[in-house]
Amino acid sequence: MALRFDILTLFPELFETFGQTSIVGRAQKNGLVDIATTNFRDFAKDKYNSVDDAPYGGGVGMVLMCEPIFDAIRHVRSEGPKGKVILMTPQGEPMNQGLLDEFKSEERLILLAGHYEGFDERIRESIVDREVSLGDFVLSGGEIAAMALVDGITRLLPGALGKDESTHEESHQAGLLEYPHYTRPRVFEGMDVPEVLLNGHHAKIEAWRQEQAIERTKQRRPDLYEAWLKIHKECHID
Ligand code: ADE
Repeated sequence: MALRFDILTLFPELFETFGQTSIVGRAQKNGLVDIATTNFRDFAKDKYNSVDDAPYGGGVGMVLMCEPIFDAIRHVRSEGPKGKVILMTPQGEPMNQGLLDEFKSEERLILLAGHYEGFDERIRESIVDREVSLGDFVLSGGEIAAMALVDGITRLLPGALGKDESTHEESHQAGLLEYPHYTRPRVFEGMDVPEVLLNGHHAKIEAWRQEQAIERTKQRRPDLYEAWLKIHKECHID
């Protein structure tokens, strides 16, 4: 059965080409995923179609109200599996490969993307299951973070990638950044492809790539390197 994504947003049009393009588009065509958008403005209660209001206690900015969001979630849940509600917010747990791996086994994910403003805390407290952040920066809305989540999960589903797009190498190198890649020409503006890649000695190539991946991770992401080292040491002790 297709993994169903419901995206609750004030800007469903942002997802139109996203859902039809590249790997996500193909996965949707092939029935691996099913992406639907719901505009929670359709669940506004007043004649102005308001979805937000001024904060209690005063202050600048507006706050997304409980009612339209609860009603929109209840509406999408009126058919199909209940699904987890994921709130896209810089306050959430950081999105990483482990989180995507965990979510890929769900039947349904309901992604809640706000824009410009905060959410009434009662949304967090009672209807949201998880909060996810794309990183330590503030976007003007959760839509791009929702797209990142959908894309990152979709490409992990069996059959989503063609053989040339395989995740084999990535999972093989789990926890490390990728080694450097080269393609033709062999010399470009005086820059050579490393000799080791040209001699067809697969074990040597493999060893070089592993070494490069380790070195690159150590230099660029010491945090990932330390985590990798720890797991690697444990594996070798067993
Ligand atoms: N909405 C605004 N900024 C965000 C972020 N960094 N991650 C997820 N959702 C967001």
